[in-house]
Amino acid sequence: MEKELFDARYQAYRQAVEEFLDSLFTDKPHWADLYESMRYSLLAGGKRIRPVLTLEFARLAGLDWKRAVPVACALELVHTYSLIHDDLPCMDDDDLRRGKPTNHKVYGETLAVLAGDALQPEAFRLILTAPGLTENTKTACALILAAAAGADGMVAGQVLDTLHAPKTEEALKEVDHLKTGAMIAGACKLGVAAAGGEKALLTAAGEYGYELGLAFQIRDDMLDVIGTDEFGKPIGSDREEGKVTYVDLLGLEGCDRAVLDCTERAKAAVRACDTDGFLAALADSLAERNK
Ligand code: IPE
Ligand code: IPE
Ligand code: MG
Ligand code: MG
Ligand code: MG
Repeated sequence: MEKELFDARYQAYRQAVEEFLDSLFTDKPHWADLYESMRYSLLAGGKRIRPVLTLEFARLAGLDWKRAVPVACALELVHTYSLIHDDLPCMDDDDLRRGKPTNHKVYGETLAVLAGDALQPEAFRLILTAPGLTENTKTACALILAAAAGADGMVAGQVLDTLHAPKTEEALKEVDHLKTGAMIAGACKLGVAAAGGEKALLTAAGEYGYELGLAFQIRDDMLDVIGTDEFGKPIGSDREEGKVTYVDLLGLEGCDRAVLDCTERAKAAVRACDTDGFLAALADSLAERNK
């Protein structure tokens, strides 16, 4: 796919996501400090990869993608909560995210925990109240998000990552599939489900997302070592936390190869449905990302 076309579509998706997220939590109850803390992290300048994936898969499954925006943003709410909690002193203890102080550094730990707590049910509210989707599709979307984020998904990965000290390639692969792959695969499947798409496309979306998720996390671990200011997160955080990552096991060159292998597998999973190559272009761009 031509770069201009890719950029224009990514931008259109991203703008719709930004506008929708900016419309949330704008009231001023006397607990508006909570809203402020939620909006601080929601609107801090994330790449929006997950909602972009949801919208593209919705489009590929035949839906007017604009109808999937609330569902795509629901997953971004959960992603945002996962980052707020991931940065807490009891987790990765990080001070910088997206080039800005982390939520707990600005609002304190109590409000950071509570902002993360609130984002989760609010995400399911967005799905259940999405205009223009049938009850069946909304139920399917809610189940996909619950599975991606829940006790056998992202949170399981976070438990293994922070409490079980994974050290082998096999153990790291499991952690990365769970903590990162589950949400990225969930984002892809959400788009298909919002459109009421076919089982075969749902399966392809899941396979693409898991491979892309693994590539994404390996690249993230590399950038934790070789990243620059552009990365927007502290460099060397994994080592400081005593984490073993793919960089320790495979070296940077080995990681480069692993990222390319996963990227190729991701692209292969959607070869039949990625009609104009947007998904392939996205996978390629993420393999080389610096932020
Ligand atoms: C960060 O995800 C968490 C990981 C899975 C590595 P992103 O890199 O997508 O974070 P934002 O939303 O763009 O900041
Ligand atoms: C976190 O992985 C994945 C989540 C579920 C939030 P990392 O801990 O490596 O993510 P960053 O580097 O802080 O974004
Ligand atoms: Mg972490
Ligand atoms: Mg972290
Ligand atoms: Mg990281």
